[in-house]
Amino acid sequence: MSEAKFLKTLAGTRFPTPPIWLMRQAGRYLPEYRAVRATTRSFLEFCYTPDKAVEVTLQPVRRFGLDAAIIFSDILVVPDALGQRVWFEEGEGPKLEALTEPADFARLTRARLPEKLAPVYEAIRRTRAELQPETALLGFAGAPFTLACYMIEGGGSRDFAKVKSWAYRHPDSFGLLIDLLVDAVVDHLVNQIDAGVDAVQLFDSWAGVLPEEQLFGWSLEPMVRIAHAVHARHPRTPIIAFPRAVGPATLMYRRNDAFAALSIDTGIGAHWAARELQPHICLQGNLDPLMLVAGGAALEREATRILDKLGNGPFVFNLGHGVVPQTPPENVAQLVDIVRNWKPPSS
Ligand code: CP3
Repeated sequence: MSEAKFLKTLAGTRFPTPPIWLMRQAGRYLPEYRAVRATTRSFLEFCYTPDKAVEVTLQPVRRFGLDAAIIFSDILVVPDALGQRVWFEEGEGPKLEALTEPADFARLTRARLPEKLAPVYEAIRRTRAELQPETALLGFAGAPFTLACYMIEGGGSRDFAKVKSWAYRHPDSFGLLIDLLVDAVVDHLVNQIDAGVDAVQLFDSWAGVLPEEQLFGWSLEPMVRIAHAVHARHPRTPIIAFPRAVGPATLMYRRNDAFAALSIDTGIGAHWAARELQPHICLQGNLDPLMLVAGGAALEREATRILDKLGNGPFVFNLGHGVVPQTPPENVAQLVDIVRNWKPPSS
């Protein structure tokens, strides 16, 4: 399994062209995904059916020959496994029975997480057995702050007023929720690694709503604690951190005592990242997902610009956020071609 170019890149080896995979590479933009998705009404039930999760995990790898697969699941399986009610409404995204006071999360427990999430681990075992050794398999989890956002807002939000008010007014009780989530995410990541994933990614998709002073305590520090606890059990498993939309505060996440790589979002300039981040840590990113929708010459220009700045590595080509449903699949094939045929400008 350590044959994979993706894993060698995370370990510091440089290749003539970087490895590539895409966040949300399995999803509604693929007709073969929609066909499998249509066989189950409930999105969570779909996630918890190993046959289907394995199949849709493999689909983008089969079609595009990507360097890594990411296990098909969702970050909200963790609140679900803790005992919070989670469901997905057609066209509206996730809904949760919101936590409104500390007593609400006193009812959440990690006790049943391993059995509740057993289908995810089963899907990982089967996917790893089906993949070629040169294709890495990624596991993932939401970072505690992002999970807390969904758990307290009861779904997505425009202003995150509820979660921020709670964190600012009652930092002690918010800290208890974060602590519970740190432990639950450690359990979930360790179980995924035990089942066969080669690396894991922590998605802090909503870190960017916090002011810089609050980022250390509620985003970075919990992620570092998770990384240290996971490494105590699996010292060699690479962990990728994705602190989305934190701007120049990305500098604080250059922690190679914790993370093998930093996934950067579209708002981070490739030139700045090459100068300030890449000398310290492997980077992953950061093509605008809407560039992948545009395709053609615009996609070629923008992907090449990123490659020219970051491609000499250590670097993993990815998007700045997930593939969107309106993406033409042929544009993904075009992107893989651009990355595989890239030549560094000065050689
Ligand atoms: O291919 C992959 O990347 C693996 C699978 C994956 C999904 N969600 C499947 C999914 C991964 C890694 C995620 C992560 C995830 N889920 C995040 C972090 C990344 C990010 O986007 O910031 C977040 C915030 C979620 C929560 C979530 N799940 C939302 C907000 C939504 C609704 C948005 C939408 O696209 O509908 C989901 C549902 C979801 N998760 C879908 C998929 C393929 C679409 C639902 C469907 O197919 O019915």
